[in-house]
Amino acid sequence: MKFSLIDNQPERAPGQQDSAVAPLIDGIGREVTYLRLSVTDRCDLRCSYCMPERMQFLPKKDVLSFEELAVLVDAFIARGIRKLRITGGEPLVRRDVLQLLERLAERRHTSSLQELCLTTNGTRLAQHAADLKRFGVDRINVSLDTLNRETFAELTRRDVFDDVMAGIRAAKAAGLTIKINTVALKGINEAELPDLISWAHGEGFDLSLIEVMPLGEGMTERSKDFLSLQSVREQLAQRWTLDPVPYSSGGPSRYVRIAETGGRLGFISPLSHNFCDTCNRVRVTCTGMLYTCLGHDGGIDLRDAVRSDDGLVRFHALLDEALGQKPARHDFDVARIDTPSTVRTMSHTGG
Ligand code: 5AD
Ligand code: SF4
Repeated sequence: MKFSLIDNQPERAPGQQDSAVAPLIDGIGREVTYLRLSVTDRCDLRCSYCMPERMQFLPKKDVLSFEELAVLVDAFIARGIRKLRITGGEPLVRRDVLQLLERLAERRHTSSLQELCLTTNGTRLAQHAADLKRFGVDRINVSLDTLNRETFAELTRRDVFDDVMAGIRAAKAAGLTIKINTVALKGINEAELPDLISWAHGEGFDLSLIEVMPLGEGMTERSKDFLSLQSVREQLAQRWTLDPVPYSSGGPSRYVRIAETGGRLGFISPLSHNFCDTCNRVRVTCTGMLYTCLGHDGGIDLRDAVRSDDGLVRFHALLDEALGQKPARHDFDVARIDTPSTVRTMSHTGG
């Protein structure tokens, strides 16, 4: 696709709906306004619940260029996407990704895009935090499951805890708004969750706890790791006063404020509490596969449409088709947690 959608709107009869600007509404009336775009499936960590040590990555030739990613984002913005999150893998391991982020950040001034966010594991944040702030990246989510160096090395199979902490310090110093994402893991970080929360709140960061999800094959036995956030919440409630707050960051977290720390704590509990009714998002992988649900395999390939000069009409037809098929809900089930719901790992789909 060569030209900008916004500058090149085709002529149409009065009253005729133009699919290139029609909002993205799915078969059960949910409006999609949030795109999570993975810019690489590669990562410099190997979190045991996410990927095996020897991971097969996608062929580089299939990965969309920055040019193609920008075209894709513009087409989504024309369809009503207002929030964009860049994910991976680890997005900051993609070469020159800051150039892409700078370009996408400009869209907040030139289009109806309102928010640009980034999810990162933090290993390279120290180098990039100041630029991210300068470009106007609104918020970053940093994945951190432990404050213990040894546990970190064991869990991620890489001994880079100090880099991540340096990255978080740099991001704070640069003035970025930070949320910590922590996967709650039975017997691994279970006992230190209160410490993690106290630390994050002391630093002025929100923290969200996440239940481990059955995504991708060949990982650790998830039934061993799975920790229900319902039980975590009950335990935390014995220690602290948890006041539910209506705050939403546009994601699936349900928030409480902890009276004693003053900070916000989110619960992302896809298994113990389904949140699909209010789902407002879709995901696109770095090769242009569109997934309308994290928990289902069927994707729609947008790459050819993005790569061809006359792919615009096809692109929008594919979006309409995908939206029509967006599943009503994922079917993650604690009883089947060792049977993956998808072949893809989280790092492939984008966290
Ligand atoms: N279940 C739950 N969370 C996962 N993540 C990666 N894989 C899984 C999984 N199978 C988390 C990361 C990060 C976020 C992007 O997704 O730890 O916090
Ligand atoms: Fe990398 Fe995130 Fe997967 Fe960990 S969870 S291996 S940081 S993509």
